[in-house]
This record gives sequence, structure tokens and C-alpha cells, in this order.
Amino acid sequence: MEKYVIRGGIPLNGEVVISGAKNAAVAIVAATILCDEPVILENCPQISDITFCMKILRSMGAEVRVLSKNKIYIDTRSIAKARVPYDMARVMRASSYFLGSLLGRFHEAHVALPGGCDLGDRPIDQHLKAFTVLGARNDMTGGEVDLYADKLLGGLIYFDMNSVGATINAMLAACKADGYTVIENCAKEPHIVDVANFLNSMGADIMGAGTDTIKVHGVKRLHGVEYAIIPDQIEAGTFMVAAAATHGRVTIRNVIPKHLESITAVLRQIGVSVEEYDDYIRIWTPGALKATNINTMPHPGFPTDMQPQISTLLTLAQGASVVTDEIFSNRFRYVAELRRMGANAVVNSKAVFIQGVEKLHGAAVLAPDLRAGAALIIAGLMADGITEIGDIHYIQRGYENIVEKFRGLGADIKLVHSIDYHEDEIKINA
Ligand code: EPU
Repeated sequence: MEKYVIRGGIPLNGEVVISGAKNAAVAIVAATILCDEPVILENCPQISDITFCMKILRSMGAEVRVLSKNKIYIDTRSIAKARVPYDMARVMRASSYFLGSLLGRFHEAHVALPGGCDLGDRPIDQHLKAFTVLGARNDMTGGEVDLYADKLLGGLIYFDMNSVGATINAMLAACKADGYTVIENCAKEPHIVDVANFLNSMGADIMGAGTDTIKVHGVKRLHGVEYAIIPDQIEAGTFMVAAAATHGRVTIRNVIPKHLESITAVLRQIGVSVEEYDDYIRIWTPGALKATNINTMPHPGFPTDMQPQISTLLTLAQGASVVTDEIFSNRFRYVAELRRMGANAVVNSKAVFIQGVEKLHGAAVLAPDLRAGAALIIAGLMADGITEIGDIHYIQRGYENIVEKFRGLGADIKLVHSIDYHEDEIKINA
């Protein structure tokens, strides 16, 4: 069993470089199935979700090679069957992107209902709605979604809500459908634009990604490409909050400041200084942290994927804060862990009510999901004493070299196997 062990209370200082965006990369790796030639992806994050997507492609017969740390070669031409092995699909949310890409290529797809972080109920009705408009029938047998289409035909897709996954899946299937598709009420996250740019760089004809309406002219063929994935908005935001939380001074490189605007605005409200440059930002905290109220919203609002990190920061702010997250029904499980560390916070329905305290203290906690796990690292960095975080496999799904990156900023954090931990504990206590 692996754990992170953190000795808190050290201000972060220095520079950190942000990796490629997880939520763009998982969709782009699945989208390579649509390409009629090999593809090279650069700035692809080395995280377990991507390793897993690569495994899925290999298990289906694709050739996948790691050319260097963040560069991968993918040739999906040898995939013959439109099926993702059941046990592989069911453990991650992003496996749903294989539905859109397999349907686009084979006019057929068989993929288990996706799993992923337990953030509450995560239905795929909007994905299925899009596939139905394009002419696919869907069926559910033994926990697997089966899609069949004699022909994919463009049409008007109107989403009932902003869904990142459904918007991307609709683009994936529509880009190889016959004719013209209009997708209304789309999600607008930066990774949606990146997936559209990737598809367009292979010869797709997609306009309007990043707005409410996306228009797709179907094409017959997509050619090979070498494509660099955008920097990860949420990884950058996580380091912004960690820098603010420890009252450090950190330069965050390889970012797109525009993607960070909602996070920057909230941090400024809390009393944090953020300076923006072309592809980097600087963060420091000149005085005390101030309480505030935050509502998560689809992009360009404040991201739900930053909710646990910002709430953690607010546990040390002066005054009372309320953070509301209506996007997922079960994204506050980390609050009970923060209470073990001395936070004064309670969850009521879709909001956490936080009364700032003077100090957090280290404790043994468990990461309930990916972003909550990152928030607990931040809590550990803020706290006095030793924090031990278990279930770190969640964190490893989405953060590349997180220990090395925090250590590069001066943090005292290490990855230990529980058998080693007791030795470390003895050293720490000595
Ligand atoms: N929803 C439906 N029906 C659908 C699709 C979504 O009711 O068919 C609901 C969801 O239950 C949720 C809301 O719509 O209440 C938004 O869900 P969305 O589809 O946008 O989320 P997702 O595609 O499942 C992606 C990211 C999440 C991120 C959300 C919101 C990936 C692989 N996952 O999930 O990322 O929280 O968008 O921005 O892109 C993370 O990175 O930690 C993470 C959980």
C-alpha cells in the first residue's frame, strides 16, 4: 500500500511546470480510433488514466508506443472489433469516449457503462441522445452499452444540460457522419476546444467548439498528425491554491492564463496575488486569507474540479465561507477528512459551510477521489505536523509526478509503502 507522507507548514517557493491536460488527453487518445493513419501525441501526461487508455487501445489490437516521456505513437488501423473489454471499460469514466469513436469508425460500439471517481450518479443519457440523433440504436445487455447504426447521418442535437462528456462524444461520432450536425447547449471547457482542434488537425470540419453551438460537417477520412495537448487547467489551479495556502511565492509555467481566469478571480477575492504573463503566472499571498462564497459552474465558471482544493484553502481564511457545488451530488466526502485535521466545516446538501480556523494539524486521512485527494495534499502542506494520505491511486490517476513537483517547490512530501512508513515515522519522530 502506497501513501503520501507530508510534513506541513513549509511555504512553497520556486517554479513548477504544468503537464498536459488529463481531460483532453483521455478523449484524444480515444479519438485516435477515428484516424485512418498513425498519430503522434505530445505533451501527453504520464498518469495512470492515460496508461489505462493506452492499455485499452492495445487490448483492442492497436499499436501504441511510448516514444519519450510525454510523446506517444498510436496506430489504430489494426483494430478489428468495436468492443472495449468489459473489465477495462467499467473502471474509468473516460471509457465512454470509446462509444463515440468506435461508433464513428465502425458504426457500432460495445462498451461497458463507464465507472470513474464516485462523485454521485453519472448517467450517460445525453451521450445516448446524441448517438440516437445521428441514427444509432442503443441497447443495454449485461452492463454493456451496445450501439448500432446502418448509417450515421448528421442532425440537430440539443443537450438538456452542459455535459463535457456528451459534447465530446457527439463531436467524435458526428465528425465521420454523413452530412451536417449542429450541437446546441454544448459544454465549453478548454478540453472540448482541444479535442475539436485535434480532430480538425486530422482533417475534420468542426466549428464553434468553446461556444454554445458546435457545427460539424462530416468527412470520410482523417489523416495522421503530430499534435500537442494543452496544459492542464486543473493541475495549474491545484498548484495555484497550494502556493496560496502555504503563503509561498510560486511561478507556474506552461499554462494558458485565459483558462485559469475563474480560478484567478476567486483567489484574488480571497486575498491572493496573481500576476499573469503569456504562458506563466506568479502567485503569492501578501496578507491574511479572506473568506468568500463560491458556486461551481460549467466553464467559464469556477470548475467543480477545483471545488475541494479551494474549500480546503478556505478552512484557514478569516470568517465564514460557503462553497456550493451543484454539478455532482457527492463531491464533499473529503470534508470529513478535513475535520480530522481540525477544519471547522459541515456539509449540508450541495454546499459546504466553512468557518476559518487558525491552524490545521496533521492526521491520517484517505483520498476519496482524485481532486479530493489533491485537496488533502494541500491540507497536509498547510497543516502543522505529519499528514499521511492513503488511497493515493486516485491522485495518481490525474497528476503527473505530483510528489516530485511539490518537492521541487520545497515541500516535505514523500511516497512511502506502508511497510517503510513506520521506519520513516521513527525517523520523523526522532
Ligand atoms: N450528466 C447527465 N447526463 C449525461 C451526462 C452528464 O445527467 O448524459 C450530468 C452529470 O451527472 C453531472 C453533469 O451532467 O451532474 C456534468 O457532467 P459532465 O458530463 O460534464 O461530466 P463528465 O464528462 O462525466 C468531465 C470530467 C470531470 C469533470 C466534469 C465536469 C472527464 C474524463 N471528466 O466529466 O473530471 O468534473 O467533466 O467538468 O473529462 C476530474 O478530472 O476530476 C473529473 C471528475
